[in-house]
Amino acid sequence: MKILLLGGGGREHAFSWKLSQSPLCTQLFIAPGNAGTQLHGTNVALDPMNFEAVGRFVVQQDIQMVIPGPEAPLVAGIADWFEQQPQLRHVHLIGPTAEAARLEGSKAWAKTFMEENGIPTASSRVFTADTVEEGVAYVRTHSLPVVLKADGLAAGKGVVICSTHEEAEEELRAMLAGKFGQASNRVVVEQFLQGREFSVFVAIDGTHWSILPVAKDYKRIGEGDTGPNTGGMGAISPVPFVDSHLLLKVEEQIIRPTLVGLADEDILYKGFLFLGLIEVDGNPYVIEYNCRMGDPETEVVFPRLDTDLVALCHAIATGSLADIKASYDLREAATVMLVSDGYPGSYEKGKVIEGLDELSNCLVFHAGTCLDAQGHMRTNGGRVLAITALAETFPQALEICYQNAEKVCFEGKYYRRDIGLDLIARG
Ligand code: AMP
Ligand code: GLY
Repeated sequence: MKILLLGGGGREHAFSWKLSQSPLCTQLFIAPGNAGTQLHGTNVALDPMNFEAVGRFVVQQDIQMVIPGPEAPLVAGIADWFEQQPQLRHVHLIGPTAEAARLEGSKAWAKTFMEENGIPTASSRVFTADTVEEGVAYVRTHSLPVVLKADGLAAGKGVVICSTHEEAEEELRAMLAGKFGQASNRVVVEQFLQGREFSVFVAIDGTHWSILPVAKDYKRIGEGDTGPNTGGMGAISPVPFVDSHLLLKVEEQIIRPTLVGLADEDILYKGFLFLGLIEVDGNPYVIEYNCRMGDPETEVVFPRLDTDLVALCHAIATGSLADIKASYDLREAATVMLVSDGYPGSYEKGKVIEGLDELSNCLVFHAGTCLDAQGHMRTNGGRVLAITALAETFPQALEICYQNAEKVCFEGKYYRRDIGLDLIARG
C-alpha cells in the first residue's frame, strides 16, 4: 500500500518509523516531513492545508492511504474533502470529518456535548463578545484558580489559568477582544480541577475502539512543572497510577458515551482520538479531546505498540477494528524533548546539530530539523529532537534518554531533567 503522511514534527517521525516497518507499506511519502522522516520515506514539499495539492499528489502517485498527523487539516475538513472528490473517495483517509473533529476544534461545542452526554468534565460556561459583561461578573465570583479557554484552535496557547479575579477579568476581556483571533470569539470559563493528568489514545473505526498504551506528557518548560506551557517537553508510557480499574472507568464513563453521543447526532468518528484526562479522587474527567495523536506522547506510545500500524489504520478506515488483536510491549518508555533556547517564546533556527552518530540504545525522533544545502543537519523549530528509550524500568529508560541527550550538541540546547520523576518517586 502506498501511504501519504501529513505533518512534519516528532509525532510524524514516530508515525513514519512505525509505518515503514509494516510489510503492508510499499511506499511512504511525508508532507512536508523533516530530516528524520526522510530516513523512512520520501519527503514531499506539500502544505497539508492545501487540500487540492494534496489530492493531486494522491491521484498522481496512486496513493491508497492518507494519514493526517496534526489537527488543523482534520478540523478544516480534509476527510470531508476527500469524500467529496470522486477521484479520491476510495482513498483511506485516517481521521475524523470536520463535524467529528469539533471535539477538538471547538471547546465550547465539546463542553456542551459532554454535558448533554453525562461525560465527566469540569463545570463551565461559555461567553462571547455580546455577553462579555455577564462573563466578567461570572469570573469575579468564580472560585480560584479559574481556567479560561479560547474556543478554537490556538496552537496550544489558548488555555490560561488565572489565579486572581483581576487577572481573569483582564484575560477574558482580552480574549473576547481577539487575543487569539477568531479562536477566542467564544471563551469557555471553567472550574479548575486538581489532580493527576494522563492521556488515553483510542483508535476508533466508527463503531469499535481499541485503546493504545496510556501516556503522560510534561507540558511546562521548567523543571517541577513551572513556567509557560509548551507543546510537550517529554512523556512516559505506561502511567504508573493508571491501573485497569481507572482505565475501565475511562472506557465506560468517557469512551463509550462519547461514541454513543456522537452516533445520536449521526456523527461517525473514524481515526485516532486523544483524551486529555485528569484523575480526581480516583475518577477520570475530560480536560480536552483531541482528534489526533499527541506529540510527544506518540514518541512513547508507538514504540510500545507491537501491532502493525498500517493494519491498524486500515482497520480504522474499513470498520474492522474488532478483527485486530492489539498487542503492546510491556516495557516502560520515556522520551525527553531537546528544545531551542527561548522556546516556547521566540528562538533562533539554523543551529548545526552534531553528535547523533554517537547515540546508542535509543530512538531519536526529529521534531524540528532540516538538512541544509551542504547536507548538515540544522535546527528548524522550537522542539528539535525527542530521545526515546524502552527498558524494563523507568529509571533505566530515563538514564538511557539522559545519557544520549547529553551527547547531542547544538547551540542553545535545553531539556528538562525531571521527566517522569514525580511518578517514579511515588512508585
Ligand atoms: P489544554 O490545551 O486544554 O490541554 O489545556 C492545557 C493544560 O491546561 C492542560 O494540560 C492542563 O494542565 C491545564 N488545564 C486545562 N483545563 C484545566 C482544568 N479544568 N483544570 C485544571 N487544569 C486544566
Ligand atoms: N502533547 C499534547 C498534545 O499533543 O496536544
